[in-house]
Amino acid sequence: MDAIDVIVTKRERGTLSREQIDWVVGAYTRGEVAEEQMSALAMAILLNGMDRGEIAGWTQAMIDSGERMDWSALDRPTADKHSTGGVGDKITLPLAPLVAACGAYVPQLSGRGLGHTGGTLDKLESIPGWRASLSQEEMLGVLRTAGAVVCAAGGGLAPADRKLYSLRDVTGTVESIPLIASSIMSKKIAEGTGSLVLDVKVGSGAFMKTVERARELATTMVELGTDAGVRTVALLTAMDRPLGRAVGNALEVAESVEVLAGGGPADVVELTVRLAREMLAAAGVSGKDPEVALKDGSAMDAWRRMIIAQEGDPDALLPRAAETMVVTAPASGVLSRLDAYAVGLAAWRLGAGRARKEDPVSFGAGVTLHAKPGDLVRAGAPLLTLHADETARFDRALSALAGGYEIAPASDPTLLPLVIDRIA
Ligand code: URA
Repeated sequence: MDAIDVIVTKRERGTLSREQIDWVVGAYTRGEVAEEQMSALAMAILLNGMDRGEIAGWTQAMIDSGERMDWSALDRPTADKHSTGGVGDKITLPLAPLVAACGAYVPQLSGRGLGHTGGTLDKLESIPGWRASLSQEEMLGVLRTAGAVVCAAGGGLAPADRKLYSLRDVTGTVESIPLIASSIMSKKIAEGTGSLVLDVKVGSGAFMKTVERARELATTMVELGTDAGVRTVALLTAMDRPLGRAVGNALEVAESVEVLAGGGPADVVELTVRLAREMLAAAGVSGKDPEVALKDGSAMDAWRRMIIAQEGDPDALLPRAAETMVVTAPASGVLSRLDAYAVGLAAWRLGAGRARKEDPVSFGAGVTLHAKPGDLVRAGAPLLTLHADETARFDRALSALAGGYEIAPASDPTLLPLVIDRIA
């Protein structure tokens, strides 16, 4: 087998054989296929696509590059959720303990943020003491204590994806549906969950800017999961505006705790409950209803157990940024648009996100929303609060927000529905 033959097959719009795929993914992981050869192949795949059989083969080869986790020692079904990422998307935080409180185990491997979308691990690390890196035995221990665990993926899980994702990041080849679908699903299948709910975000703050592209990605992932024996469902959900009223690590933890206490913004509660019901149905668990578990304190109890089991202090004060700046409404009327990407970029520039993998994040930085699209606002009333450790960051955040919101005299904003579609 030879890397050039594989590249030329795809360059000429051919179908890669299972042998070619197994060989190239394995040899690349072992360092026997050069980075420039894999980048040429990734570009050929981005331009010419892969069929269903090729995507399934590619996903399997990435799973086979590493270890598979096994939860068969547990006495209840496992359920997991994956979001393609968005602005203010803190749903994993209330969702994992909520689903645990309703009767399924939730072993969830999460990532850190890069660019304008936040990462679940960065959010949880704003809780003093909380530890993201766990061995599989430790994960089992947390699951038995709390019913849910959220932690970092170890290096042994789909190492081919780890290597390929870094390469795609610097070669303009992230936005390929076959490569995104196989990247996400190789990790989720290797993680060993019995069922999976995918939250595929659509809009300016998401990877997928249109409903059509999101539907194609969701369908591809549902097929991959189903073919691998994982009960998989996808929801397409809105990311044209931020989710909730808090964007930024510690700010989002605080909002998640409000949801677990039975309050919180309506959109965060609605999506959390909807995803919880989907996860329980996919896992075949008909326990307590998620809405009840948010009201009766059982989801909060599971959250506290989960945080304590990972050495975090759920009662500790969360970090706060040293400086704040209030952005006021320039006119009276209806907030007709508040663009997710603009708010995500502003939060990133305030210090909530990182530009390079090794950069630290500011836990207290971010944006608080005082109005959501559709709300009436009064000229001079607070619209947003910016939080940062240094005042020097405010100007760059304000330039990210310029043109990112509009106030109309009186109109119904055209927003995507919160849940756009369901694919199973
Ligand atoms: N998330 C992933 O894990 N992989 C991709 O390719 C894109 C988003």
